[in-house]
Amino acid sequence: MKSIPRETDFIVVGAGVAGLRAAIELAEAGRVLVLAKRELSESATQYAQGGIAVALSDEDDIGLHLQDTLDAGDGLCNPEAARILVEEGPERIQELIDWGTAFDRHGTKLTFTREGAHSRSRVLHAHGDSTGREIGRALYSKARTLSNITFSDFEFSTDLSLHDEHVAGIELIDQSGGTHHASASAVLLATGGIGQVYSETTNPPIATGDGVAMAFRAGAEISDMEFVQFHPTALYVRNAPRFLISEALRGERAQLRNMEMLRFMPKYHEMAELAPRDVVARAIVHEMEIIPARDPVVYLDLTHLSAERIKSRFPRIYDTCMKYNIDITTDMIPIRPAAHYAMGGVRTDLQGKTNLPGLFAAGEVAATGVHGANRLASNSLLEGVVFGARAGAAMRESLRAAKDRTRSNCITPAPI
Ligand code: SIN
Repeated sequence: MKSIPRETDFIVVGAGVAGLRAAIELAEAGRVLVLAKRELSESATQYAQGGIAVALSDEDDIGLHLQDTLDAGDGLCNPEAARILVEEGPERIQELIDWGTAFDRHGTKLTFTREGAHSRSRVLHAHGDSTGREIGRALYSKARTLSNITFSDFEFSTDLSLHDEHVAGIELIDQSGGTHHASASAVLLATGGIGQVYSETTNPPIATGDGVAMAFRAGAEISDMEFVQFHPTALYVRNAPRFLISEALRGERAQLRNMEMLRFMPKYHEMAELAPRDVVARAIVHEMEIIPARDPVVYLDLTHLSAERIKSRFPRIYDTCMKYNIDITTDMIPIRPAAHYAMGGVRTDLQGKTNLPGLFAAGEVAATGVHGANRLASNSLLEGVVFGARAGAAMRESLRAAKDRTRSNCITPAPI
């Protein structure tokens, strides 16, 4: 049976984009233990299709990305967090490219798509609709080259442990049901979201809100939990999981039609299908309510695109729908909104620090206020790399400061 270090410098709970990026940042400062509840590859990152938003195209600038982020957040963003996200985004993306992330290109030029509530085409994608998987792959490969990082899968973190009001480690249940403890000078929660609290969600089965629950029990401040984003378009097949149908399809001019096959979004918003996510999700629910049915749905119509374009641009969505005998090159896709992303979580500052010394949080589990009441499409992978790197840097600094304190406490006082 594998054994994990009982004592390390840093523990990172979660192996999605935020956790991996933080681990890479931490590796030069000490020993890092990355824990995953299931397989290392099983995180919300792996399910992120549409892409990662960044102001890098010739027609774009950072100010526009900032304004779109603030507008989508409905006046409730922390403007400083949003500014950091868009300003540090380009550098983090360059780093991902340097570490081998294969974003889609035309020739040598990166290709950008449009998604809801963006005023420009600024969403990078990879393998068409597997952007999260590709970024996760590149970060994991990079992390594997760093000898200070140890990975351990099938480790279910159940509680934080405290010593003198300082978070000092984590309690775990391993695959065989045994409980144990790992201690560290700092712990990062990068545990993702809470989607499984809802009956319909795009989130993977592991998204059960463990990070928020652990932090709350330990006394951490939690904020903005009322802001849960519903993705407008999750595949609806009875008794099947709600597979995400990326907003990027609407970026390619897919249209929403009600049960009478009538297009309805133009009557709800001037941006029609590319209105902010909350607007589109509410419009769909309204359309489902006014046309009674046993299994209410609306349809996404992509049939204006050529079959080749659909298969090359959205291979994962095409293959998944085919499993349910839905050929998206000819058939309309039955969809419903589903719980997708928690804007709230463990309250942190802009360095990922919580109110509990030794406890940090980054990615979906954290509430920096960057998304306000409603996250702009494809800002979540960006949040993971930007705030994961920041949290890693702050944890490094906390270890250095603790070592300095220990050294100064050990200095023998001069004889009087
Ligand atoms: C999508 O591809 O529609 C999801 C992207 C996101 O949640 O930002």
